[in-house]
Amino acid sequence: MNGHAYSIEIDQVSKRFGHGSEATLALDTVSLNIRTNEFFTLLGPSGCGKTTLLRMIAGFEEPTSGDIRLDGVSLTGKLPFQRPVNTVFQSYALFPHLTVEENVAFGLEMLGRDRAAVREAVTRMLALVKLSDYARRRPHQLSGGQQQRVALARALAPHPKVLLLDESLSALDLKLRKDMQVELKRLQRETGITFVFVTHDQEEALTMSDRIAVMGRGKLQQVGSPEEIYDRPVNRFVADFIGETSFLTAEARGRTLEFGAAGRLAEGALGTTAQGPVALAARPERLRLSEDGGLTGIVSEVVYRGADTLYLVTLADGQNCRVRHTNRLGARERAVTGDRVRIAAEPGAFQLLTGEAGHA
Ligand SMILES: Nc1ncnc2c1ncn2[C@@H]1O[C@H](COP(=O)(O)OP(=O)(O)O)[C@@H](O)[C@H]1O
Ligand SMILES: [Mg+2]
Repeated sequence: MNGHAYSIEIDQVSKRFGHGSEATLALDTVSLNIRTNEFFTLLGPSGCGKTTLLRMIAGFEEPTSGDIRLDGVSLTGKLPFQRPVNTVFQSYALFPHLTVEENVAFGLEMLGRDRAAVREAVTRMLALVKLSDYARRRPHQLSGGQQQRVALARALAPHPKVLLLDESLSALDLKLRKDMQVELKRLQRETGITFVFVTHDQEEALTMSDRIAVMGRGKLQQVGSPEEIYDRPVNRFVADFIGETSFLTAEARGRTLEFGAAGRLAEGALGTTAQGPVALAARPERLRLSEDGGLTGIVSEVVYRGADTLYLVTLADGQNCRVRHTNRLGARERAVTGDRVRIAAEPGAFQLLTGEAGHA
């Protein structure tokens, strides 16, 4: 541990590749602080600049402008091996001719640690990733998940202050990925190392992270806990990228919402107060089909999905809205296509969207 609240400070960092008309602005004045011992995730669609940001923390790229600090000290000009940072890539990049324990020992030997210390660390790391019985095998004798754990053990062995993980679970199949999500979270807790995890998979981000930074088009869109990101997306980009969302417009009167011909939702449907025309987002599970609902519409589609059913409703003012109900054993469908229905909302179900990023 150290005296700094923040492990990594990204301070107004921009990155431009190429020159003139060929130039790409991969990152546009991104500022964010990652706490010590945090499981922090960079989440966003392909091409939004996640890998670029990770490579700048690792030292494989330098920012075009701005500064990155680790424990309060600028990393500018420091070479990758001078930074107390390790990276785990999507491809495990294990040495095929070395055994599991030799792979894990490699980084430590490069650092010039003595034999006893290397041996001790390798034993501890293999126990941590539950591969003690596989020490003498070579990578090709392991499953994908086991290889990924060797790569993790190798990266964790020198006890870096920060571990960077770039789409590190994407190559694994679903079941294994789920197991590894739990495993990674455990490793982060047990080692006390700051993890910066990159993914385009929202579910993965919501499952594992202490906090998430949502990135889009080279810009930071929102930083917050999984709950904040899911329940209070600040703009259309975030609301659209994470989870299912209906986007609606209405007239706000304090905390009530008027939808013209479709009706009105009483006090509290809007989490905050506002006046006049507003852009709104609502999660389908925060709405329900109910006789006493304030909105009217017609069901345009019913999508059965096992655990739940999604009802697509065209409201009387022409807007489209999604409502989701959890399915209970023996319960009948609540509505069929063409039914006239009413929709009610939980308090705070509607989220006010702000910011220029809302206009995609
Ligand atoms: N070395 C490079 N030269 C030119 N453009 C690059 C380079 N690396 C990344 N880019 C561009 O920067 C943007 C962000 O890329 P990247 O950070 O790899 O995104 P992500 O990891 O989120 O998919 C993309 O438009 C990509 O084409
Ligand atoms: Mg990438």
